Amino acid sequence: MTIYRIAPSILSADFARLGDEVRAVIDAGADWIHFDVMDNHYVPNLTFGPMVCHALRKHAVASDGAKVPIDVHLMVQPVDALAAAFAEAGADSISFHPEATLHVDRTVQLIRDAGCRAGLVFNPATPLDVLPWVIDKLDTVLVMSVNPGFGGQHFIDGALRKIEQLRRLIDASGRDIRLEVDGGIKVDNIRRIADAGADTFVAGSAIFGQADYRAVIAAMRAQLPPRG
Ligand code: DX5
Ligand code: ZN
Repeated sequence: MTIYRIAPSILSADFARLGDEVRAVIDAGADWIHFDVMDNHYVPNLTFGPMVCHALRKHAVASDGAKVPIDVHLMVQPVDALAAAFAEAGADSISFHPEATLHVDRTVQLIRDAGCRAGLVFNPATPLDVLPWVIDKLDTVLVMSVNPGFGGQHFIDGALRKIEQLRRLIDASGRDIRLEVDGGIKVDNIRRIADAGADTFVAGSAIFGQADYRAVIAAMRAQLPPRG
């Protein structure tokens, strides 16, 4: 049975009110909080570090008191030290770009040993070649449907073919791995992305760019196929 997850990206939130924004989007129905970390080296933009993750940890809580997963997307190089710092700061899952570290298997192991879910991120032009060698240790695979570094970009249709290829690889592995997609996701394209095989959807500008977070998250969910 496919359980879909919607993960608003706080890259498009009001940075002056991040705690309020995290609580508001959780009240509006978010499943995860997507946390984009950019170092102005691996990508041409600079965002926030472990201290902000730590400060937001107490805000990422549902009305019943349950912790809402903080899904850290590391667009940094090198990776290991920051991955360890984010695990310490309260991250639940940590994903990184394989070309940003010298030892992919070691970095995946480091994240798992720190008690977090581990994920690999593939840019639009990056092949999935490393995947078969670490798929037995992964909890998430993230397909970038924009070139990393900014919110508000258009969805690159070529990502649909990679999602289909990845869905086959994940199903063949028999493991419970989330297929997450990130970049340019909107109410009017989320269904095509789900039909290609995705089950987890990052959305920044499509949610935080709207006045009514609950309405847009509900509209996205309404587009998704019934649980298979
Ligand atoms: C881009 C980030 C994305 C971005 C998505 O590098 O990884 O998470 O915030 O924003 P939208 O949904 O506006 O494309
Ligand atoms: Zn992201």
